[in-house]
Amino acid sequence: MTKQTILGLTACLLILALFSSCNYYKDDKLNPPDGFSCDTTGITFNGKILTILSENCLICHSDVAAIDNASGIYLVTYADVKSRAAAILGAVNHTGGYFPMPKGAPKLDPCLRLQFAIWIRNGMPEQ
Ligand code: HEC
Repeated sequence: MTKQTILGLTACLLILALFSSCNYYKDDKLNPPDGFSCDTTGITFNGKILTILSENCLICHSDVAAIDNASGIYLVTYADVKSRAAAILGAVNHTGGYFPMPKGAPKLDPCLRLQFAIWIRNGMPEQ
């Protein structure tokens, strides 16, 4: 086992402990790929989450676009995102009961989804 595999498994176990199912690997029916590495340390809204959203979501969920493109769902400010964290997690993991996001595009990279989950587990720090 490589160091990265152990790190990946550890991260997965953390998620397992939190959500009582390992959504990342279970949803994708993947085994942790060899060499999977994902930096899950020090994730904040300003430092990471906003970047993920602006690269993948704000084309529809921003101030300008949301009314026309995303049913009025804004994911711009810290308060917007914090109040919808559970729905975002469900949407990006394609969990039943949520609209799968990003709409019309492939599922987000597993590392991004893991980072989002860890951020929530850590109490959603803003900075
Ligand atoms: C192409 C436009 C588009 C993109 C890109 C997009 N969304 Fe959406 N989103 C929508 C629309 C439209 C809805 C309303 C539901 C529907 O019609 O599918 C929605 C709904 C949602 C909801 C509510 C889901 C629910 O079931 O309550 C969340 C949360 C969400 N989006 C998060 C995201 C996130 C996070 C991303 C980026 C990873 C993203 N969206 C990218 C258009 C988009």
